[in-house]
Amino acid sequence: MAGRFDGKVVLITGAASGIGAATARRFAGEGARLWLGDLDEEGVEALAKALDPSGERVGAQGLDVRDMDGVDAFTQAAVDRHGRLDVVFNNAGIGAYGQVQDLDPKAWHDVIDVDLNSVYYGCRSAVPRLKASGGGAIINTASISGTHGDYGLAAYNAAKGGVLNMTRTVAIDHARDGIRTNAVCPGPIETALTAPLLASEELMQVYRENIPMGRVGRAEEIASVVAFLASDDASYVNGAAIVVDGGVTSWTGQNNFTRVLESGSR
Ligand SMILES: NC(=O)c1ccc[n+]([C@@H]2O[C@H](COP(=O)([O-])OP(=O)(O)OC[C@H]3O[C@@H](n4cnc5c(N)ncnc54)[C@H](O)[C@@H]3O)[C@@H](O)[C@H]2O)c1
Repeated sequence: MAGRFDGKVVLITGAASGIGAATARRFAGEGARLWLGDLDEEGVEALAKALDPSGERVGAQGLDVRDMDGVDAFTQAAVDRHGRLDVVFNNAGIGAYGQVQDLDPKAWHDVIDVDLNSVYYGCRSAVPRLKASGGGAIINTASISGTHGDYGLAAYNAAKGGVLNMTRTVAIDHARDGIRTNAVCPGPIETALTAPLLASEELMQVYRENIPMGRVGRAEEIASVVAFLASDDASYVNGAAIVVDGGVTSWTGQNNFTRVLESGSR
C-alpha cells in the first residue's frame, strides 16, 4: 500500500507519543509529507528526524493545543512548509480521574481544554486550508469514553462525547466543501497515557477478562484505521465514529453468563 498518500500533506497533533506517533509512522510509510506538533517539542522533533533525516518530507514544531492562535499558526505553518494541506488529525489528549463531586475543577477545565476545545481549534483552522487545497479529511480522536460512561471519568467522558458530536456537525457542515470529517474511538490502547493503569497486574487481569479479544490494543491498530479514514478508500465515509476496541462496547456490561454458567470454560 506504499504511496497511498503520495503528494498529500498530513498534520498530526499529539504526535510525539502513542497513537499520534504510530500514525505519523504509518503515514510516512505510505508516502505522505508530515507536519507534526506536540507539547513535547524535543520528542516530536526527534520523531521527525527519525522519520526523515533530511527534514524535507517531515517537519515538527512544539505546540500547545490549548492555544487557539497557536493552533491556527501551526496549521498555517503546514501550508507554508509543504504548500498545501490534505489531512488533519486532531489527536492530542490527556486524562483525569475523578467523580463529579470530588474532581478538582482545574482538572475538569484542563481536560476540556486539551481534549475538546483543542479539537474545535483544530477544525476551525483546518476547514479553510483544506478547502483551499480542494478538499480533504479531518480525523478527530474521540474514544469509547465518548460513546459510553466510565466509572470516575466525568471530565474525560464529557470531552470525548463533545468531540464525537462536534465531529458530526463539522462533517455535515463541510461535506459540500469536499471535506470528510470522522472520529476514531479507541478502546484501551497501550500508550504512555494508559501505562500507569496497565502496570497494574490486577487491572490487566480485568482487561483480559472483559475485553472480548482478551488483550488491550496497540497504537498501530488505531493508526491503520486513521489512515483508512484519511484515504480515498473511505471516500463515502463522513461523520462516522469508528470504534476500535476489541469488542468492549459490544458487550452490555451485564454478567458474563458463559463465564458464570460454564465456570472455568472462559
Ligand atoms: N490510549 C488509550 O487507551 C486511548 C483510548 C481512547 C482514546 N485515546 C486518545 O488518544 C489520543 C492520544 O493518546 P495516547 O494514548 O496516544 O497518549 P500519549 O500520552 O501516548 O500521547 C498523547 C500526546 O499528546 C501530547 N499532548 C498532551 N497535551 C498536549 C497539549 N496541550 N498540546 C499538545 N500536545 C499535547 C502529549 O505530549 C503526548 O505526546 C488522546 O486524545 C487520547 O484521549 C487514547
